[in-house]
Amino acid sequence: MGEILMSEDGVNAGRRKFLTAATSVVGAVGAVGAAVPFVGSWNPSAKAKAAGAPVKANIANLEPGQMVTLEWRGKPVYVVRRTPEILAGIDKVDGLVRDPESAEPQQPEYITDKYRSLKDEFLVLLGVCTHLGCAPMFRPEVGATDLGGANWQGGFFCPCHGSKFDLAGRVYKGVPAPLNLEVPPYSYEGDALLTVGIDPEQGA
Ligand code: FES
Repeated sequence: MGEILMSEDGVNAGRRKFLTAATSVVGAVGAVGAAVPFVGSWNPSAKAKAAGAPVKANIANLEPGQMVTLEWRGKPVYVVRRTPEILAGIDKVDGLVRDPESAEPQQPEYITDKYRSLKDEFLVLLGVCTHLGCAPMFRPEVGATDLGGANWQGGFFCPCHGSKFDLAGRVYKGVPAPLNLEVPPYSYEGDALLTVGIDPEQGA
């Protein structure tokens, strides 16, 4: 992780131009204060590398309908094994969620369908509410009366201010959270060795 891939598009070209300009300024400052060893600051410390390191987990034994929580970059990552019934429940709440097709960029570009996953069976999300950052609770019980009864097909409930998300992490309408829960970069080695923090093309 940490490698920055630069494409040839205009945005990154502009960014490169900015970096070149910024480097020139640093160079000028370095020339004035030549005794200041600033080179070390360009190399991330071992601690920083560890904090951003990918996290691997074998999720083959996760029970259908259950969730496990991993930790990546100091944040909780929720992994839920979804059943066909859970996926059908997601279909039922399309009209109740604010951004059903995840048009707003809350996931890597290779996550494209409404179930918001590489494999429908496994949901992988950051467990960080998009309102003010609390950890939403896993509430898979269909029809939970405190969460909307017949309109609740299972999901996540944020105890801080009451935001609700379905089992694709899509935010319900009329709650404080403005966006769907974020999907982190991730990939698989084989069927069920999940790596959070590595895109599929990097992990291949
Ligand atoms: S932090 Fe989740 S609803 Fe406010």
